Amino acid sequence: MTAQKGVDGKEVAKHNSRENGVWIVVHGKVYDVTDFLDEHPGGAEIILRYAGMDATEEYEPIHPPDAIIDNLDPSKHLGPLIPSTLPPPPVSASAPPPTSVAIRQKTNEPLAGGEEEYAKPPLEEILSLHDFEAVARRTMGKRGWNYYSSGADDEITMRENHNAYHRVWFRPRILRNVGTVDYSSTILGYKTSMPVYITATALGKLGHPEGEVTLTRAAGKHNVIQMIPTLASCSFDEMVDAAIPNQVQFLQLYVNSDRSRTKKIIKHAAERGVKALFITVDAPQLGRREKDMRTKFVGNASSQQTQGGDNFKRDQGAARAISSFIDPSLNWNDLAELKEAAGEMKVILKGVQSWEDAVMAAEYGCDGVVLSNHGGRQLDFAPSPLTILPQVVSILKQRGYMTPSRPFEVFIDGGVRRATDVLKAIALGATAVGIGRPMIYAMSTYGEDGVSRAFEILKDEFEMNMRLIGAPTLSDVVPNMVDISSLNAASGGITMYEENYERMLPVGVKARL
Ligand code: LAC
Repeated sequence: MTAQKGVDGKEVAKHNSRENGVWIVVHGKVYDVTDFLDEHPGGAEIILRYAGMDATEEYEPIHPPDAIIDNLDPSKHLGPLIPSTLPPPPVSASAPPPTSVAIRQKTNEPLAGGEEEYAKPPLEEILSLHDFEAVARRTMGKRGWNYYSSGADDEITMRENHNAYHRVWFRPRILRNVGTVDYSSTILGYKTSMPVYITATALGKLGHPEGEVTLTRAAGKHNVIQMIPTLASCSFDEMVDAAIPNQVQFLQLYVNSDRSRTKKIIKHAAERGVKALFITVDAPQLGRREKDMRTKFVGNASSQQTQGGDNFKRDQGAARAISSFIDPSLNWNDLAELKEAAGEMKVILKGVQSWEDAVMAAEYGCDGVVLSNHGGRQLDFAPSPLTILPQVVSILKQRGYMTPSRPFEVFIDGGVRRATDVLKAIALGATAVGIGRPMIYAMSTYGEDGVSRAFEILKDEFEMNMRLIGAPTLSDVVPNMVDISSLNAASGGITMYEENYERMLPVGVKARL
């Protein structure tokens, strides 16, 4: 009998420290990562925790499938692990926090009714996008929930994004024929069933084992455009392959300091039929999201570990771990090169936060802007996109943009939970609105069916609300259908959004976890 080909797990287990060399197993293959430890964007600590072990469960949600293959020299790919030869991990090895859908999620506050177990309601009981968030908060793995739900600093901007919608009131019109209402539209010339697109959010597998392809499939079914994230858990090709023929997809782009990598991504996107490139411009460095950063304290860092004088590194959260490649030197002069690389694809700047920059984007030949503060995850006290929208649109129009001869589209995202929110943005001149977190909460809680249900809910809301404001089509949703006299005033009031908002806690306040 010949020996089975591959690497024996007992050999792997011996390579369990810097001194002995560090081997890890990912998806059944063995890699020597000793020399890569200090280059790992997420830090050496997390790899060392899995030295000599199978790291797939930790690796999977936060890396695209090919990351390890692309980043390691082929000489470090040691080959397949001989099945069943890897000794079980030592009992003391700290288990990673749950990454996929958990049945019961510990929260900082008692559960409704004081129940210990939270039973996920059947999907038909989900009536609004808020409901997905409520279920997500109680059922998602802590790491995923903390990553998705967190915002920058004191999360003032994150909450303001939603609160701003409460300061715009409708001026409904009556006795218009609303027997049939049509809320279909176009985005950058591409048809959509409603003026909504799925905006890019990272690390889908922290919420659902299948990740972003569930969004792709539901978007295909409902004729909604998906913006593919650079930092998805699924690979770009997996998301394009999951689309149905003629399904429109856009790509969100983080520009890499190594421009050749960015150009390669753009070229590949164009070849695969992506229609527009949304260049993220609000994140030269990722914001401090303290809920996300604190996750590792909760999961893994015992007080002994942190006080014992060893070199346990405080984790910076999922966001910082994945984003070190983003180029903070990106500036207006780089746009020509990116536009050229984009070829036929439309180019939009995502993360514009002032009318001056919207005008510059138009002057630099972009096809549009997304007024966005990155879901309140970047600069705290950045204004809500809705608040600046009227001024941005009015100045762009004064300068001759947003006209048939110089089409330029304005999108907004952040804080949207209802079709009425979207209609307010449309009335104020937006082409469409990006929805991020609610989509990944729907995905995290009920998978593709959840995302489909989210679209159905939005469609029902559009139909009813367009009837009630007296607008048979979206072109009837005009500026004088809204009253913005309070837009710049402070808002208050407890809403379902507030109920789902998980309060930030200062250090040490984690007694109920
Ligand atoms: C974030 C990045 C990765 O906001 O978009 O976490």
